[in-house]
Amino acid sequence: MKIAVLANLKEDAPVSKEDPPGRWDDLDDRKTVDAILASLHELGHTAQYFPATIESIQELKNYTPDLCFNSAEGHFGDSREAQMPAILDSLRIPYTCAGVLGMSLSHNKAVAKKMFRDTRIPTANFVVVRYGTEIPNHKMTFPLFVKPGVEGSSIGINDSALVRNEEELLHQVKYVRSITDSLILVEQYIEGREFTIGILGDEVLPIVEIISPTGFYSSAQKEDLNSAVRRVCPADLSPEKTALFKSIAKRAMNALHLLDICRMDMRMDTQGNPYVLEVNPIPLMDPDPNQASLVFASAAAGYTYTDIVRKIIESAARRWNLALN
Ligand SMILES: Nc1ncnc2c1ncn2[C@@H]1O[C@H](COP(=O)(O)OP(=O)(O)OP(=O)(O)O)[C@@H](O)[C@H]1O
Ligand SMILES: [Mg+2]
Repeated sequence: MKIAVLANLKEDAPVSKEDPPGRWDDLDDRKTVDAILASLHELGHTAQYFPATIESIQELKNYTPDLCFNSAEGHFGDSREAQMPAILDSLRIPYTCAGVLGMSLSHNKAVAKKMFRDTRIPTANFVVVRYGTEIPNHKMTFPLFVKPGVEGSSIGINDSALVRNEEELLHQVKYVRSITDSLILVEQYIEGREFTIGILGDEVLPIVEIISPTGFYSSAQKEDLNSAVRRVCPADLSPEKTALFKSIAKRAMNALHLLDICRMDMRMDTQGNPYVLEVNPIPLMDPDPNQASLVFASAAAGYTYTDIVRKIIESAARRWNLALN
């Protein structure tokens, strides 16, 4: 096949002085795009990288790809991952990963959590601070957790995200408001263990446990390559709990209309109850397994990086009815 790889590279990010730390952390490094291209070539496809920007569209059309490998996170707007799928839909070019609906549902964590509630997928109780810093009435008991409702890479999640009283809560909502104009989530804090679960095509990968000395995964920890956070895969869970977490992961993927691949964060409280925190429709594909949990979990399942790329392409080709040659 002739495949266009679409991504927004970190090196091309529209950096500005107002950006909070980690603002562009979910964009791809050049080495990730190079690794995807190398795998596509190894699989016998013709492949070329295109920046996922409006300026590249004519060139992309001229390339006449059979399929786009979509890794585009986008830059601005309330559903930035949905922009490339919208353009590709209107051009009638097939692409990997979720469409506009899936990207939009998962980008907005409050909407995603409403979808989970509707489909009885366990998720922490929450209220939304839509504008300003006024916190709606709620019946949750402390401790609570405060985070932006639309960003990734733990932006706005610092060491004070876990709040134990009204004063800390208001202080933290004000802090998050100072870095984002969009919605803020105040959630029940789920004390317990944390897991991340990748799904590749139809297959739920071995579960990764994220062990952080602070009990949760802050933006500083995500940025610090030498942080004390450890990953263990497969996670030390009973066969019953493993099966439960995996089945919830599949249901969450379906509830948000995600396709081909996704990775979700889950917690287990001290009583052993599972909760889905959020789902990423385009998981990081950094070839370094220590950087990318999905690559780490795939390695534990015995898959090479090229196997991951192959499985994404196979899944998309099935959906779009494309011949794999
Ligand atoms: N309700 C909660 N209870 C306990 N910890 C939480 C809760 N919500 C978030 N966290 C902690 O904060 C981290 C980041 O939260 P979340 O995954 O929702 O944000 P993110 O910025 O989108 O992360 P990602 O980089 O995976 O996109 C989680 O990995 C977890 O450690
Ligand atoms: Mg997360």
